[in-house]
Amino acid sequence: MTSEWAVVTGAGHGIGAVIARLAAKEGYRVAAWDIDEQAARAVADEIGAGCVAARVDVTDEAAVAEAMAALPDAPALVVNNAGVVRFGPLLELSAADFRLAVDVNLTGTFLVARAAAARMAAAGGGAIVNIASINGIAAAPNAGAYTSSKAAVIKLTEQMALEWSGAGVRVNAVAPGLIHAGMSDAIYADPEVRALRQGRVPLGRLGTAEDVAEAVLFLASPKAAYVTGQTLAVDGGITRSALHRMPRPADVDSVGVDPAGDPAGPDGGR
Ligand SMILES: NC(=O)c1ccc[n+]([C@@H]2O[C@H](COP(=O)([O-])OP(=O)(O)OC[C@H]3O[C@@H](n4cnc5c(N)ncnc54)[C@H](O)[C@@H]3O)[C@@H](O)[C@H]2O)c1
Repeated sequence: MTSEWAVVTGAGHGIGAVIARLAAKEGYRVAAWDIDEQAARAVADEIGAGCVAARVDVTDEAAVAEAMAALPDAPALVVNNAGVVRFGPLLELSAADFRLAVDVNLTGTFLVARAAAARMAAAGGGAIVNIASINGIAAAPNAGAYTSSKAAVIKLTEQMALEWSGAGVRVNAVAPGLIHAGMSDAIYADPEVRALRQGRVPLGRLGTAEDVAEAVLFLASPKAAYVTGQTLAVDGGITRSALHRMPRPADVDSVGVDPAGDPAGPDGGR
């Protein structure tokens, strides 16, 4: 348990609201930031004592600096969760949509983390967790603006970890997979699409916002004291399963020495 401050951006909806609730449950005082002030306030009111809400647009450098300075103490934890997605094939994607994804997902992460790291360094350290996506690991249909912004978040996480390790600031990322929450809710409204997507996940189910929040709080905790610069995919195994459900004839799956004495084995060495 701790009574230190955790800042959660994009805390008004979806995964961010669940991270804020879990952080409060684990004893943090939570600063719930969102561009949607009303939503942030609703989450803060629900959490109750120890949670404050603020309207903070993570792309607004001055607003971020002001909100960070307004915290009574340096935050022990900052979760860069605010994010947007803009779908569309690259040939049709507008520059405005591309810029928005980069601005919120990447530049916003940079601005909030930089403001936090300065305060954390002065206070002796802290933990930053950036919410990336498996789309930052693997390209996805019509998600070019999002995938490139999230891939950059993963690399920015490594850069921050390297630069701020001497100040005691650990920086890691969580890459959520197929999560039935927040911005993906619309995708799972169709039961057929839901079943098809779920069927691709080795663990056999979609992820939840709670799955993501637990990973965030683990990376923030002393249990992860020697972990920095890493990206933890919370994805039921999907990014490590290119060969999942790959058809294979049963007769090539005999294991061990070929009874006929062929040193290449029963499959001819494949
Ligand atoms: N839901 C998923 O399937 C999924 C999968 C992988 C990664 N993610 C990532 O998880 C994070 C949370 O996504 P979610 O699914 O909860 O989405 P969501 O749309 O429900 O929540 C995003 C929140 O960010 C806020 N926000 C948007 N722009 C902002 C800005 N400029 N400044 C401050 N706040 C801003 C929104 O108001 C909203 O509250 C995002 O970074 C997203 O990319 C989500």
